[in-house]
Amino acid sequence: MRHRPDVVITDLRAEHGDPRLGLGTARPRLSWIARPTAAPPDGWRQSAYEVLVEPVPALVGAERAPTWSSGRIGSGDSVLVPWPAQPLSSRERVRVRVRAWSPDRPEPTAASAPLEIEAGLLQASDWVAVPIGPDWDEDPGADHRPALLRRDVHLPAPVARARLHLSAHGLCEAELNGRRVGDDVLAPGWTSYHHRLRYRTHDVTALLHEGDNALGAWLADGWYRGRYGTHGGNRNLYGERTALLAQLEVDLTDGRRVVVATGPEQDPRGWRAAHGPVTASSLYDGESYDARLAVPFSLAGFDDSGWAGVRTYERDPATLVAADGPAVRCTREVLPQAVLTTPSGRTVLDFGQNLAGRVRLRVRGSAGERVQLRHAEVLQDGELYTRTLQTAAATDTYVLAGAPGGEEWEPRFTLHGFRYVEVTGWPGRLHEGDVVARAHHSDLRRTGWFTCSDERLNRLHENVVWSMRSNFVDIPTDCPQRDERLGWTGDIQVFGPTASFLYDCAGFLSGWLADVAAEQLPDGTVPWYVPMIPAEFWDPPQPGAVWGDVAVLLPHVLHERYGDAGVLRRQYDSARAWVDLVERLAGPSRLWNTGLQLGDWLDPAAPPEEPAAARTDRYLVATAYFAHSARTLAGIAQVLGEQEDAARYTDLARQVREAFVAEHATADGRLSSDAQTAYALAIVFDLLPADRRAAAGTRLAELVAADGHRVATGFAGVNLVADALTRTGHDEAAYALLTETGCPSWLYQVSMGATTTWERWDSMLPDGTVNPGHMTSFNHYALGSIADWVHRSVAGLAPAAPGYRRLLVRPRPGRGLASASARHETPYGPAAVSWRRRGGGLVVDVDVPLGVTATIDLPGHPVGHVGAGRHHFETES
Ligand code: BGC
Repeated sequence: MRHRPDVVITDLRAEHGDPRLGLGTARPRLSWIARPTAAPPDGWRQSAYEVLVEPVPALVGAERAPTWSSGRIGSGDSVLVPWPAQPLSSRERVRVRVRAWSPDRPEPTAASAPLEIEAGLLQASDWVAVPIGPDWDEDPGADHRPALLRRDVHLPAPVARARLHLSAHGLCEAELNGRRVGDDVLAPGWTSYHHRLRYRTHDVTALLHEGDNALGAWLADGWYRGRYGTHGGNRNLYGERTALLAQLEVDLTDGRRVVVATGPEQDPRGWRAAHGPVTASSLYDGESYDARLAVPFSLAGFDDSGWAGVRTYERDPATLVAADGPAVRCTREVLPQAVLTTPSGRTVLDFGQNLAGRVRLRVRGSAGERVQLRHAEVLQDGELYTRTLQTAAATDTYVLAGAPGGEEWEPRFTLHGFRYVEVTGWPGRLHEGDVVARAHHSDLRRTGWFTCSDERLNRLHENVVWSMRSNFVDIPTDCPQRDERLGWTGDIQVFGPTASFLYDCAGFLSGWLADVAAEQLPDGTVPWYVPMIPAEFWDPPQPGAVWGDVAVLLPHVLHERYGDAGVLRRQYDSARAWVDLVERLAGPSRLWNTGLQLGDWLDPAAPPEEPAAARTDRYLVATAYFAHSARTLAGIAQVLGEQEDAARYTDLARQVREAFVAEHATADGRLSSDAQTAYALAIVFDLLPADRRAAAGTRLAELVAADGHRVATGFAGVNLVADALTRTGHDEAAYALLTETGCPSWLYQVSMGATTTWERWDSMLPDGTVNPGHMTSFNHYALGSIADWVHRSVAGLAPAAPGYRRLLVRPRPGRGLASASARHETPYGPAAVSWRRRGGGLVVDVDVPLGVTATIDLPGHPVGHVGAGRHHFETES
């Protein structure tokens, strides 16, 4: 009789798991989880593994090459292990399985469920497609009305396998035979298009058939040439004309391959272009659609004889890159919580949640009736409040076709940050479900959860998650609503650790980091936002601390949280270039006290129009970050085996620390800026000699108390201040800071009804009016970066080795909390900590994944170590 296996190999992933089709590397790294089926068996630990690779030919039943085996590879590693087989060739599809051995038993585990992966177009020469756009003239100074492109496709035999490789200069959606290809939106997303243009590969086998077919596409301005940037922005950021890049490859059952690609067209039945029902579209301003103009253009045989021809455009195929992470999709729908009639008599829907997305409407009425939707994050005096959107009109318009059974519509190429929608022109009465908000963002896998006995903190945490969702829209943006939405480097630098706990953003962020490296100036300057676009923000970019440090600190976070040493290697030159630049700028003094610095941006004491006028000196911030990045880089060099660099940057970091102390630590034990952020930086970045550290912690706790436990940090200290208190033994002060409700504080926002985290501590003032500052958003993630401390120090779940291969379980809950728990899908499997108070002590349960050990450090309890499994602890005091 066979025993039920006690360990199975699950969750096999290639690279970061998504996408599986159109992988951009010939040697995808593999990861898996060894999962116990019941209680973890004593003594099981992976000591070897075997990878089995089976080719998957296009034709079902075709003769298969034999399965390849790596043989037994002696290694305990299961996260991002090197591809052991022959490199994949372009389009190659394989089925991969893994099994593993433990030294305590002779037999390996059963092989995992198969993972099917397929390489994309790995060589520039694989591309025959050339970008095409409509052959008509357009005004380069205006938005362009989106176009439709189409052509018929004849397939002389049944289809075995079909792929559509799709990209655009602009935004596109493809259709085959009247059906949408894929469910991703805002494709191909936003990369530094000059250097890297992303494509995705779609399995379109089921959308095609023998005989006549048609391929169609919608094409819009998007980031490529639409108006983008603040103060009116710029157009034509990457080129004056949009174009579609599509390569349809169909393997027929008779062994032939048909390739239909965009490109020069002599065939009169080839590519044609026309205007469609989308009459205007802009990421900021919204979209207008006239349903009376809709035509079934992606059906075979559609009469396009009146359509225009196409023009071709240039694109170096070597700049086409496969996606590193998931596409932007609709991830959830939110129904309106209330239909309001405003004091001026307008109809406003309240969705109860601020989010990034757009609405879908279902409407019935007569042809030509026009419904208008204006979006906003807040109301003021009961009316829609749009000043904070600046020039983004955020208005969608739908003109009805008058279909007797009703009609349904959602815009395609725009996105809004909103909670409220003002509806005008609705025919008849608005019914429940007629208008639904659809949240859109990069469809990342959720990996982290937190909950506790304080509902206000739960709401804060939920707000952090919603601000992440709203701003992880293909790139990490600052905000989703106003005319900005840029990949601000400082914001993600402080939020990276929180993001990496909540969602698996390894692929998303490593793809974006490739753009950071691509956009870095030859002298090492990191732009303030990536992709870099010319705007009024310091163009050409000048180096600034906190923001530029993303080049070192974010790759480090990805290694720490996901065990990805590959990203350290890929970003190494970029990281070094940054620290080397700062070293030159600081000169022999080792103090970076020159140039443009935003410092502790948005310190609540700074006047609304002067967000950089913080209590902490901006050059103190810059030098602190210099020391921290130099030391972090030394650690990266160590991981990469770059010993000389490791020694050099270790020494540099020591010199900067000494210079920091000489310059900023005063004789009375204080810092030159006697402010929360200054102490937070000095403590968490470990800049002070051991004998001054405790005094710094005490002073920080004093300042927090003197401020009435209100937060007094901007972007440079917000993610550090609670940690600094915890690390110097002031747990109660950290907790008091977290749970304060007066303005400014995290829970002030919650008490004002926030459903996302705000840009300013007081984006909404206590009297309910919107902060008069020019830049005021209700959906920025940076101030939510406290959540990483909440996960590590309130719940007590932290990584102690790259990829959480060791856990640190160290809850330091404040007295007011009765219970808390956190759960995280680590690369090794699910880890969890959950505690509740009993008497003066704690009852704690900890789940440790197989292959992982945990250090248990509970208050009033000797530090211990445990292996995989569920562990129960009780402390007395
Ligand atoms: C953005 C920020 C950014 C800052 C820096 C703002 O407009 O929204 O979040 O980091 O500018 O200047």
